[in-house]
Amino acid sequence: MPKRALSFVLNGERVEWEVEASDTLLRALRENGLTSVKRGCEEGECGACTVVIDDEAQKSCLVLALEVEGKSVLTTEGLPAAPGKLHPIQQAFVDEGAVQCGFCTPGFIMTTYAFLKAHPNPTDEEIRHALSGNLCRCTGYLSIIKAVKAAAAALSNQSGAAEGGR
Ligand code: FES
Ligand code: FES
Repeated sequence: MPKRALSFVLNGERVEWEVEASDTLLRALRENGLTSVKRGCEEGECGACTVVIDDEAQKSCLVLALEVEGKSVLTTEGLPAAPGKLHPIQQAFVDEGAVQCGFCTPGFIMTTYAFLKAHPNPTDEEIRHALSGNLCRCTGYLSIIKAVKAAAAALSNQSGAAEGGR
């Protein structure tokens, strides 16, 4: 089957790929080296493949690669962080012990990234609701919820410091 051209912004840089019309975004990302995006159920159930598309967390196994034409896609590889540092959400997951085997972690982090952009001061209930599409077999979720709260606090301190510095 002939390949189709695909042009979109990946982690802040425009890319031009050739994909099969039937390729999912999950498949295209992994074939192009973005292996933080995990292949779990491939049925929209586990959230391991979550990426952010135009500021919205989406399961990349349910999106055709060609659907992101002209859009912006963010994976954990592209999370903005200072050189040599983790993004505050990643750091919060480490600090709160929210990472065990780690398979689910990139998906949780991208869900959290989009969620905290829209809800910078979330309640526990809002966090639970936001994370309800991501499954973790290891942690029991409490440490993940604590990590999201810690990340919200860190991001709000960071933006407060940036505003104070203006
Ligand atoms: S691999 Fe996409 S939701 Fe499980
Ligand atoms: S840390 Fe193992 S599945 Fe979540």
